[in-house]
Amino acid sequence: MSDKNEWGSNLSFILAMVGSAVGLGNIWRYPYVLYSNGGGAFYIPYIVAILLMGVPFLILEYGVGYNYKSSFPKAIRKINSKFEFLGWLLPISVFIIMIYYSCILGWDGIYVILSFFKGWGADPNTYFATTLLQSTESISGIGSFIPVIAIAMLISWAIVWYISHKDLEEGLGKVSKILVPLLFIIMVVIVVFSLSLPGAMIGLNELFSPDWSLLLDFNIWMAAFGQIIFSLSLGMSIAFTYASYTGESSDLITNTLSIAFANCAFENFCALGVFSILGYMSLESGTAIADLVTQGTGLVFVAYPTVLNVLGQYAYIIGPLFFITVYLAGLTSILSTIEPLAFSIQNKFTWSRSKTMTILCLLGAVLSMIYATAFGGTLLGYVDAYINQIAILLGVVFECIVFAWIFKCENIIPVLNKRSKTLKLGKWWTVVVKYILPIFIAIVWIGGVLDVINSSSNDQLIVFGILTVILIVLTAVFTKLPATNKDWDETENRL
Ligand code: PHE
Repeated sequence: MSDKNEWGSNLSFILAMVGSAVGLGNIWRYPYVLYSNGGGAFYIPYIVAILLMGVPFLILEYGVGYNYKSSFPKAIRKINSKFEFLGWLLPISVFIIMIYYSCILGWDGIYVILSFFKGWGADPNTYFATTLLQSTESISGIGSFIPVIAIAMLISWAIVWYISHKDLEEGLGKVSKILVPLLFIIMVVIVVFSLSLPGAMIGLNELFSPDWSLLLDFNIWMAAFGQIIFSLSLGMSIAFTYASYTGESSDLITNTLSIAFANCAFENFCALGVFSILGYMSLESGTAIADLVTQGTGLVFVAYPTVLNVLGQYAYIIGPLFFITVYLAGLTSILSTIEPLAFSIQNKFTWSRSKTMTILCLLGAVLSMIYATAFGGTLLGYVDAYINQIAILLGVVFECIVFAWIFKCENIIPVLNKRSKTLKLGKWWTVVVKYILPIFIAIVWIGGVLDVINSSSNDQLIVFGILTVILIVLTAVFTKLPATNKDWDETENRL
């Protein structure tokens, strides 16, 4: 089994990891986070978050994943069998992300086609919310099914299945080597074009004019840490799983630095493009930038089409390129969300990679149809808030404690250092991962929970309750089911 789950080269590993990290979070989340948290001043908490959390945590996740060369629950069970449930909680949560990510991919797929003829018409806002999604906040919307979204989502599932069910290097490895560089190239074209637009400087001035006073505001520090966790896909058992697929002599520390750098460079580059375009729009329409800036679906599916509407002929080139980039970024991320659960199932129940992927994709596709309804868009927002701000962060705090304290992270330092051609770990790393990280992430978690609970409607709280039950039941089932793999309790240390 393990021969099918191994990268063909270090490059495949790095590019697949960059593909996972670079996603919708870089394109639609980061520019907004940067702008609304002090502009240029945000770089201070952001860089602190990368150095203090991003890099040390990734090294920890990679190091332990590499050491066990096995799935996440198997490794956790080896560290302490009482914690196997935690080993399932994160891969299951990440699979839930996959199910709604397929919906965003579906929407974007539709926009790729619309962008060739500006099919969203003169009022992109009404088109997106009303014509396409028929969006309603009422749960009864689950009853009205929207076939066109369902078809777009099923196409995404078919692509994901086609790539994932092959052996690792044949599928994900090869695809990452093509798509990730392509993604970077198209983004360069879009950003260079955006920078050349009249008004670009208005947007950039607005983006970077620092509001230093905000540095004293606790919220911008939380925003920086939250962004880095989401953007680098930290602690989600993805980095762990990818590292366990690596060969013998990986230089994990240098790989971590390259991946963190590529991801953060990409998102800052995107911010340049997004704000130049918004500057142009502000010049054309006389609207203040502050009124144009939105995040998430608003930016991609409303603000961008609005800009494309005033861009004339160029829009027929830049529009499709932009929506294709979002599609590629989303695709390389969604491919990473199936790996942790799939590898765990293969590992515990001795299923083949291809059978596991086929069953998970079928199951995911069926479940995802709940988002192809009029309530889908609203539900997606609820599930996203719950999984990212509550479930995953809690798993991440536990993961950090189990890896740093129970596994004893200092044991892996000598081997990681021996292979490293760049940074060497010292006592500072142990202090960071044992003390600073769990405390910081716990604070971000508490902040996130309070925020979600304070701003939730009753419907939202009901959805949170249902998701909590689903997570507990699935985690218990996977933990309790007897392993068919007789090696389930035998895991070697590689380091
Ligand atoms: N890191 C991805 C992004 O920036 C998001 C993601 C989260 C991907 C979880 C996979 C899993 O968009």
